[in-house]
Amino acid sequence: QFEEELNKIESLKAFEELRVKYLGRKAGIVKSLLDLLRTVDREFKPKLGQEINKFKVFVEQSLKEAGETIKKKQQELEEKKKFFDITLPGFKGLEGGKHPLTITRELIEEIFVSMGYDIASGPEVESDWYNFEALGIPKTHPARDTQDTFYISEDVVLRTHTSNVQIHVMKTRKPPFKVIMPGRVYRKDADITHSPMFHQIEGLVVGENITFQDLKGTLDTFLKKLFGEKARLRLRPSFFPFTEPSAEVDVSCIMCGGEGCRVCKGSGWLEILGAGMVDPVVFENVGYDPEKVTGFAFGLGVERIAMLKYGISDIRLFFDNDIRFLKQFR
Ligand code: PHE
Repeated sequence: QFEEELNKIESLKAFEELRVKYLGRKAGIVKSLLDLLRTVDREFKPKLGQEINKFKVFVEQSLKEAGETIKKKQQELEEKKKFFDITLPGFKGLEGGKHPLTITRELIEEIFVSMGYDIASGPEVESDWYNFEALGIPKTHPARDTQDTFYISEDVVLRTHTSNVQIHVMKTRKPPFKVIMPGRVYRKDADITHSPMFHQIEGLVVGENITFQDLKGTLDTFLKKLFGEKARLRLRPSFFPFTEPSAEVDVSCIMCGGEGCRVCKGSGWLEILGAGMVDPVVFENVGYDPEKVTGFAFGLGVERIAMLKYGISDIRLFFDNDIRFLKQFR
């Protein structure tokens, strides 16, 4: 039985347990055998004593040898653990990078900052007044429908555009100023080109004698800096409740090799901005004198510009956080 148990020993701990089990001073098996010897009849004592002693010596000898091998093995293991192979290749950590929307936003911010603009921000959870009313969007306007807007309560919404920040800026600053206002906006929309959350950058310039020419010149400069000197812009009459006159702004289809490409769908132009002269009603709503100041505003979608710049066809790619997509922009 002892030999069987000894053969199974693999660790120093198990070895120690076996040693105590057989040679333990108080309750070891050898000790109990010697105790037994005292109780047997005299005539059996010499023979039995001899046998027990043989067993004791055998156990001690075997344990000594086994103990030495196991200690040696243990030492070899420790040495192996200590060994450090400096020729092994290192582990490369995952390298992070900027999100394509961040890159695009920063690029647009840089362009406007280089033209003397400040950057401002405002709340994403907004009162009905700032998001709609002050901007001349009446209760009957379809954009206010619960099908289009996320309502927090009757008077509080997730802002549907960054135009709310126009109102905050005008209520806290005195003209003249030039600001851009980047941020998240929310609409009940979801398909390959619309996401329920997306990013806009609003622009607002207010001062004396700001004209439509200033608006056009500014956007022309901006688009050339963004898409290259060959980019042309085209203004189409449009309507926004908070600008008058209003325009939709197209850029010539330079980003994918001219007319007839997949992105431009053959027309040669791409709509990328909404803009216009600030409506006098808005100035009145924030306490400015519309006889003294004029201004222009514009709004653009960051996702749309990033999709054009990088040739991305599905807006959801921006929000899946798939590393295979994201690492292409490092
Ligand atoms: N707020 C408009 C939109 O979200 C864009 C816009 C901004 C238009 C400023 C004109 C002036 O569609």
